[in-house]
Amino acid sequence: MLTAEENELLCRVEGDAPMGQMMRRHWIPALMSEELEIDGKPTRVRLLGEDLVAFRDSEGKVGLLDEFCPHRGPSLVYGRNEDCGLRCLYHGWKFDVSGNVVEMPSEPAESSFKEKTKIKSYPTEEIGGFIWTYMGPADEKPEFERPPFAPTEDTKVSIAKVKIPCNWAQVQEGQIDSAHSSSLHSSDMVPARVDSAGATETNWTRPSTDKAPRMTYRTTPYGFRYVALRRPIKNSSTHDYARVTVYVAPFISLIPPNSSYNVASVVVPVDDENSWFYFLAWGGEDIIGTYEWREFNRLVMGKDIESDYSTKSSIENDFNQDRELMKSGNFTGIKGIPNQDISMWVSMGKIVDRTTDILGASDLAVVEFRRLMVEAAKGFENGSSQAIGRSGTHIPQAEITSFQGIVPKGTDWLTLGTVETEQKVLSELAERAS
Ligand code: FES
Ligand SMILES: [Fe+2]
Repeated sequence: MLTAEENELLCRVEGDAPMGQMMRRHWIPALMSEELEIDGKPTRVRLLGEDLVAFRDSEGKVGLLDEFCPHRGPSLVYGRNEDCGLRCLYHGWKFDVSGNVVEMPSEPAESSFKEKTKIKSYPTEEIGGFIWTYMGPADEKPEFERPPFAPTEDTKVSIAKVKIPCNWAQVQEGQIDSAHSSSLHSSDMVPARVDSAGATETNWTRPSTDKAPRMTYRTTPYGFRYVALRRPIKNSSTHDYARVTVYVAPFISLIPPNSSYNVASVVVPVDDENSWFYFLAWGGEDIIGTYEWREFNRLVMGKDIESDYSTKSSIENDFNQDRELMKSGNFTGIKGIPNQDISMWVSMGKIVDRTTDILGASDLAVVEFRRLMVEAAKGFENGSSQAIGRSGTHIPQAEITSFQGIVPKGTDWLTLGTVETEQKVLSELAERAS
């Protein structure tokens, strides 16, 4: 449970809201690389309540500018993307990726007006299938680094993108909450007598039937990690089935992998009441391809989602829930793992009321998420703290991983999926706390 004020702090991201301001101090996954072609159609990008336009210029460089022309205000989404710049259709002013006005055909040739005018622009980087941006003050810009889901140059990343009509925090809470998968996704994540979680074309398998995991968390410099221990189908007297989920605040969560690929999700606020949700499979060259990943998740553009990435199944059509399918054994009657999640997130309302919810032992990760983020926002509000993960030893994001597997009972879970640097930092933190 949160107070009404804490819930506001957690959820609000627009304008001066502390959470949004704190998020601006991190590199933000703004859109997918595949959305922009050289000299191609500019794309609308709304982030933290701000309307922007992205385009890829003739040299392949990406610009992220204010959506509206500073001259008289029409949208640059309709602009011409040509000869290393984006040209407003109205009077032909042309902007480069850095926000400089490079042509002003409507003004006298001798005018210096051009040099004095700029359009708001944000820096961009490109890695792991995403275009990233930094929207905070220039003097607080952190060094750009590889994200956990693209640890090396040749990591392959398959991304499914959706626009969700509700606040970011309820989406993020869903992604880091391990307990719901045994119910909500029970028809797609099925128990099997296997040694490790697997993936087929139609479902995921896991070696446990246990619906009430025992959970423990540990705060880390970048967020937190937690383990959910379940009774395995085989060897349950000597072993545990461990699933470690990691939250790399504020946008990324690493879900336990399966034997075919790693799984991650990225949640970025569009504004207070809408979110960008990206579901990722990543790994080596032979992982599931982008199209197959979107098919598996039933998030194929044209078929399942609209061109603006909103879903065709929505609260208006009750997410096309099929009651007959439920009678025949399907748990939700909703097809596709993300669609099941989306139906839960969206049906909670635009911004869920956290002053009345009733949390149990399995909500441990949700409680930790709220504590971490509300504290970060409060710190930001009081001027005492900045971005998350800036103090102490830096753990490179590319070295942060989740984990799943059957382990002997009594295994130190902090060694599961952690590299030496992180283990050292965590034991130092623990010593300091004791
Ligand atoms: S309004 Fe854009 S150039 Fe005039
Ligand atoms: Fe889920």
